[in-house]
Amino acid sequence: MVAVSISRSPLVVRGAIRAPGDKSISHRALIFAAMATGPTRIRDILVSADVHATAGALRAMGAEIPVLSDDFVVNGRGIASLHSPALALDCGNSGTTTRLLAGLVAGLAGRVARFEGDASLSRRPMRRIAAPLTHMGARIAFEGPDGHDGLPMRVYGMPLSAITVVNTHASAQVKGAVMLAGLASGSGVTVQEPQRSRDHTERMLLARGVNLTVTNEGVVLPPAQTVHAADVVVPSDPSSATFFAALAAFADAGVLRLENVCLNPTRTGAFDVLRRMGVRIDVESERTVGGEAIGTLVVYPASLQATSIGGAEIPRCIDELPMIACVAARAVGETRITDAGELRVKESDRIRAVVDNLRLLGVDAEELPDGMRIIGSQAPLAGHVVTHGDHRLAMAFGILGAVPSNRIAIDDPGCVSVSYPTFWRDLAQTIGPDTQSTVVAPVVAPGTTPLVIAIDGPAASGKSSTAQWVARRLNVHHVDSGAFYRAITLLTLGTGVAPEQWTPQAVLEQAHRITWRLTDRSVLPLVDGTVQDEAMRDAPVTRQVSRVAQMAAVRHWVNDQVRAAGAATDVVVDGRDIGTAVFPTAALKVYMVADPGERARRRLIQRLGRRPTDAEIAEETEALVARDALDAAQSAPARDAITIDTTTVTQEEQVERIVALAEATRDRLRGH
Ligand code: S3P
Repeated sequence: MVAVSISRSPLVVRGAIRAPGDKSISHRALIFAAMATGPTRIRDILVSADVHATAGALRAMGAEIPVLSDDFVVNGRGIASLHSPALALDCGNSGTTTRLLAGLVAGLAGRVARFEGDASLSRRPMRRIAAPLTHMGARIAFEGPDGHDGLPMRVYGMPLSAITVVNTHASAQVKGAVMLAGLASGSGVTVQEPQRSRDHTERMLLARGVNLTVTNEGVVLPPAQTVHAADVVVPSDPSSATFFAALAAFADAGVLRLENVCLNPTRTGAFDVLRRMGVRIDVESERTVGGEAIGTLVVYPASLQATSIGGAEIPRCIDELPMIACVAARAVGETRITDAGELRVKESDRIRAVVDNLRLLGVDAEELPDGMRIIGSQAPLAGHVVTHGDHRLAMAFGILGAVPSNRIAIDDPGCVSVSYPTFWRDLAQTIGPDTQSTVVAPVVAPGTTPLVIAIDGPAASGKSSTAQWVARRLNVHHVDSGAFYRAITLLTLGTGVAPEQWTPQAVLEQAHRITWRLTDRSVLPLVDGTVQDEAMRDAPVTRQVSRVAQMAAVRHWVNDQVRAAGAATDVVVDGRDIGTAVFPTAALKVYMVADPGERARRRLIQRLGRRPTDAEIAEETEALVARDALDAAQSAPARDAITIDTTTVTQEEQVERIVALAEATRDRLRGH
């Protein structure tokens, strides 16, 4: 397995970081724009996997959300225009998407939506929203095993009645879900919480003409309110900025400016904690935009001291605690985090995962039921961090790994795409991308140009369609090496010789009839000068292609074609042994895996254009397992490949992850 590890000695920070848009505000900007009537202009939204999930779900309910970009307009058609989605809403990794939209659907009488998510999201508790929504009159059915209150979940919208919810813990997602249900159904709601959770819902609704009141006890939303359209400029996410505040604190020298950061007091707990740990953080250019305070933070290297964090401070820094724990690992003394049991039900069990990883690196750390205890030291830390696909773990340990004496590798660096797709690039740029000691693994022979991105994986793992998307996003050519095998198989079938009698020589006799040309998007094999895409994907070819692909001489020929394309232009290339035999020095190698049953299901949907039956899936699974066995010799991953398990990951997420890695790789190679 390969990882990212970026460091530089000495660690000098300089310049400015403008972290991407705030995730909480970005989700809400889309939802409120879809609920309003009229145009909402949204600028600087976070373009990340989580926000794509919200955009996709709203589109599935009939909202016209354009492709996400720095500046776009949503033409809202009012809450009543939102309909039941035809397919399940794929919420990916995003708890906020699930909980807020479940509230919205619950309040829309007659609508029904099934919510699905990746493995991490499916484990997260939904009873916390199901209980108040059910109490208001909605129906919510959990479809997993008995007693499981996670996804998949079906929400049936009903006419709802007013409610006062007294939350046992502070949660902006629960508060938001209940308020959205109230708005959608026209019923009044009151939400009380023990401490104030982030208040973006309240602020944004006030800015949209909703008449709500906020008291010390909580939020009161009167019945029959309309959400009006209002433009949004999304400030930078303080949670993302915290990673770079910590980097500056770790630095040997320099100063780092964090621009445009959202300084909403319900979100700035991490900066208070860092200050208590000895970090100087100055605030400049403070101003209010769209009801939110924003400003520039200027952060200096620090001599770090331990601290205690608990009580009302926790909701103000809940998402930043993994980073704070990593800062504590370098502080003098014992840091205690308590009252933070919520960490166990985030994208991973962040208490266990943070402590396990710190210990693995050599830090004296211990789990507490509701937090952790960390004893800091200056000893070098080394090891391979297991992120469990949790973006904040990847980034927190990525920053800890930037400390010069540390040698820390991150197993799934691409998972940062959930909230901060350009994180690795920003990190490399901040500490000096042109230095020898800056390493973005996998490491390849320097100066390998053009850029080659190799995507490998077993049959039907989705490598070809993912590679096409990635190539399009990067604006480079896609080469599908499998298409060359299919082309030559098609021609050999045409000879009429029974496949059992095919010899490598007989197959290669057809090779002269195959050429390729560069289109604007891809490297396209031509059969007798023409495109034969459909015939190449037909069942007779599919049945025989693996026989041909096993012939070493044929493999040599295909590899030569693909290498020639890769020498001509920047390429994303997918296929067997691409990262091992064909491009052993590819700048980035990705190996995609997925359960055979899931691969069978996807392949059948593609082939049949409908949901396959269980029997069809079982049959296809068997065929795939047999095919895997045949291909085993060629399908081993390159040692320096990054493995991505796509069983529970949407294709959009896979693509985002690979694009984030590819961009970091390209920047490193080209030195910007
Ligand atoms: C969020 C609320 C918080 C936070 C999450 C985003 C939101 O979760 O951890 O990252 O945008 O409402 P809880 O509501 O579960 O505390």
